[in-house]
Parts: sequence; structure tokens; C-alpha cells
Amino acid sequence: MNPIEQLKQKFRSPETPGSLFLSFEGVEGSGKTTQIELLKKFLEGKNLRVLSLREPGGTTFGEKLREAVLQSKYSLHPLAEGHLFCSSRAQLLQEKILPFLLTPGSVVILDRYIDSSLAYQGKGRGLGYQTVLELHQHNPLNLLPHRTYFLDISLETSYERQDKRGNEKDYFESEKKDFHQKLIDSYRELSEIFPDRILKVDASVSPEDITKTLLTDLEKILP
Ligand code: TYD
Repeated sequence: MNPIEQLKQKFRSPETPGSLFLSFEGVEGSGKTTQIELLKKFLEGKNLRVLSLREPGGTTFGEKLREAVLQSKYSLHPLAEGHLFCSSRAQLLQEKILPFLLTPGSVVILDRYIDSSLAYQGKGRGLGYQTVLELHQHNPLNLLPHRTYFLDISLETSYERQDKRGNEKDYFESEKKDFHQKLIDSYRELSEIFPDRILKVDASVSPEDITKTLLTDLEKILP
């Protein structure tokens, strides 16, 4: 068995019956925020408790780390980045995600999670998937979502949508095209490495069509 497959065995999904852990992944402009808001409304309409959070951040400590990395004016060592995202994530799991999932009928939706570390630090920064998985192999970081929606767009679409928004570029957004192409390639690879968990969704279509695809899948896995 190759090292990645071996490491995968150290990971698990939450075992609280009747609760669901979801994450969204994709590059800038993939439409994660819009879809998360729509999904949240849909789930609340079904009388489920929904907690929606973003990474890095979501806790007082995590928001400080978020600022430290995204506002950084100089480049950080890839391992410094990797550990920093793990710290924010461990705190978020401990303070918010794990307690919330204990109540049946609860759904946690995360805007980015472990696959962002695999794509950005693993492939983008070159740490490798093995190292990033090793950083996550201990409790509580070894908790995987039941389902991850990867909103897939091309590099051209990502740049077009960013230009329309016209926001100032942060630490990662100001990286070169080559880095962003690696992220897209990586997410596509990850959806093959974790085929049961990651659903790759064509996000070049209209937001309504993306929602339809997500809801069709969600109906199958709802508690
Ligand atoms: P954010 O503004 O939340 O990005 P977006 O709107 O694109 O979701 O900034 C988070 C940035 O941090 C984003 O560029 C991806 C990066 N990131 C990592 O590099 N590794 C990680 O593990 C996580 C969670 C995020």
C-alpha cells in the first residue's frame, strides 16, 4: 500500500448519529460563499441546526492567526503556514465543531478545511500530500467531513470573476498564475484520492445549476 493510502487509514468521519459535517473547497471565485448561504437556508428550512464557519478563523485565536497569515507582508516558510492552519483548525474543532455535532440534527458547514491545506501547502507550496496528512494524523485533526463539495472552475474563470470583484489581493491571491493552476490541479487530484468524500462539481455553470447538483447529493446523505 502506498504511504498516502496508509495515512488515509488514520482518518475518520464524525460518528455522532444524525449529524452531518460538510466542507466546501475551491479557488477564488468558485462561488463557495453563495452556495454555503443557500445550503444553510435549505437545511434550516428542514429544521436542522446549522453552524457555518470559515477557515482559517472561526474562533478568537483562529481569527488572530488568519490576520497573521493573510495580512503578512513577507513570505512564510511552507511548514510555518502548514502548522498555522493546523493550529487554527484544532482550536476550531475543539471549541466549535465537535461540541456542535454532538446534538442529533446538527450540520456543520465549513468554508475550507483540510483539503485547502493539501492543495495550498501540499501542492502549491510543495510540502507534499504526505507531510500535510501527517500533520493532521492525530486527534482531533484527523476528523474528515462526511462530504466535501469541490467547486471546480478553470483558471481563466477564476481570474475573470476576481477582476469583476476588483478586491485588493491578499497573501495567497497575489501569488503567480502558476501557483493558482497548481491549486486547481491539486483539488482535481484530491477528488480522485478521496473519491467517496469529495464531490467535484462543475462551478462554471449558473449558481442555480450548482445548487441543484448540491441538493441532489445532499438529499442522499441528510441525517
Ligand atoms: P479567504 O479570504 O477565506 O479565501 P477565500 O475567500 O478564497 O475562501 O482566505 C483564506 C486563504 O487561506 C485562501 O487563500 C486559502 C488559504 N488557506 C490555505 O492556504 N490553507 C488552509 O489550510 C486554509 C484553510 C486556507
